[in-house]
Amino acid sequence: MSTAHQRRSGLRRAGTRIRKVVAAVAVGAVTAGGLVAAAGTASAQTTLGDAAAAQGRYFGTAVAVDRLGEPDYTATLNREFNSITAENSWKWESLQPSPGYFDFSTADRIAEHARQQGMELRGHTLVWHSQLPSWVENIGSADELRAVMRNHITTVMEHYKGQVRSWDVVNEAFEDGNSGARRNSVFQRVLGDSWIEEAFWIAREADPNATLCYNDYNTDAWNTAKTQAVYNMVADFVSRGVPIDCVGFQAHFNSGNPVPENYHITLQNFADLGVEVQLTELDIAGSGASQAEQYAGVTLACLAVPQCTGITVWGVTDKYSWRAEDTPLLFDGNYNPKQAYYAVLETLGGSGGGGGGDGACTVTYEETERWGDRFNGRVTVRAGDEAISSWSTTVTVHPPQRISATWNGDPSWDASGNVMTMRSNSGLPAGGQTSFGFTVMANGNWTAPILGSCVAS
Ligand code: G3I
Repeated sequence: MSTAHQRRSGLRRAGTRIRKVVAAVAVGAVTAGGLVAAAGTASAQTTLGDAAAAQGRYFGTAVAVDRLGEPDYTATLNREFNSITAENSWKWESLQPSPGYFDFSTADRIAEHARQQGMELRGHTLVWHSQLPSWVENIGSADELRAVMRNHITTVMEHYKGQVRSWDVVNEAFEDGNSGARRNSVFQRVLGDSWIEEAFWIAREADPNATLCYNDYNTDAWNTAKTQAVYNMVADFVSRGVPIDCVGFQAHFNSGNPVPENYHITLQNFADLGVEVQLTELDIAGSGASQAEQYAGVTLACLAVPQCTGITVWGVTDKYSWRAEDTPLLFDGNYNPKQAYYAVLETLGGSGGGGGGDGACTVTYEETERWGDRFNGRVTVRAGDEAISSWSTTVTVHPPQRISATWNGDPSWDASGNVMTMRSNSGLPAGGQTSFGFTVMANGNWTAPILGSCVAS
């Protein structure tokens, strides 16, 4: 049996196990909280983004700008995710390294990628004690720090106005441990307790349509001091009309901070205050079925809470994770989908997945050129580790878009004219690749087309 066959049958076995796991977690959710979560409706979504969208949610990832030149990184990103958070390049030290000097050049590459791919953006993060330049840390005057905070929030939010769905306005303002106290940051020391709400008022003024979030970690288990402290702050803000719309749960899990059994209860309690909840930096240390089970549980917790609008994992591949040694993500270092990937996909109601289609070939899309009324797209088809004698895939445009020209392939169309099937009988050697291209008349809609799976024979 070939390696590819072994991998595919291994994945099928994993899938069967995951279905059982998901069912078990669903039962847990029902008994624990009286909630019935809809896991696994029969649908054919084969990517995380599409499966989440079918559940009315987004599925995003943190992106490191430097990795966008790596074809497998970008292919996996573009195929699986429909929301992006900049892992580092939107932080204060990157955007305003010295007083009044703003540099958006790297950050804009993230925004441009999201725009080209029709993905949403999460803004991370406006005010945080870490990755903060020393010139800010050294400010001792309240008037000066207040003006500096206002200038940073306003300049950054206005730069991206209308492009960012949600902003982490304030990040990690509470201490770890059992004190429930505010973290001793320069903002807390110099401005006192009011600095957090001041930041939210400034943010609302800068982009009134963005969803404004408070974002933190170790806020997952309901009864801990930190969770309670954040909850009390949000409750207070809501009762006094401070403009907070959302709470971000970073969701970095490991054996010291395991996924709580009743995670959906924490999420629901916050949501009941009248805010959206989002899982903003999800990663879970571990491997195999145990990691997959925890990922399924977290996904199910989000699905169980109507106000949980989306999940972002903190990176595309284990090899570039901020804690790579924990292998905490959904794709391994070679971009192979892990058991955890299938667990999430199936919990979202999707199936198949992994970008493989039938496992023998994969397809990736990129926009190559754009004019005032149209854009060109290119689809790259890659064979797996065996030769294939034919391949096909679909490209679906969003009406009123129209495909006006194609090259390097023989297209056929469905009755609506929106779904183009591209087929080739010339085959590919093991590991070989080819591409085809097309022009889309935008007619006002610049969303990237939806790429189907690759099917080979
Ligand atoms: O870019 C420099 C490189 O030039 C230099 O050679 C190298 C040497 O150390 O450092 C590189 O910068 C590193 C940067 O990541 C980019 O890789 C920084 O040292 C390193 O501190 C930084 O770590 C980031 C960390 O935030 C900083 O606090 C992680 O990538 C990033 O994943 C992590 O993300 C945070 C969220 O923003 C907030 N929640 C927690 C989460 C995980 O810590």
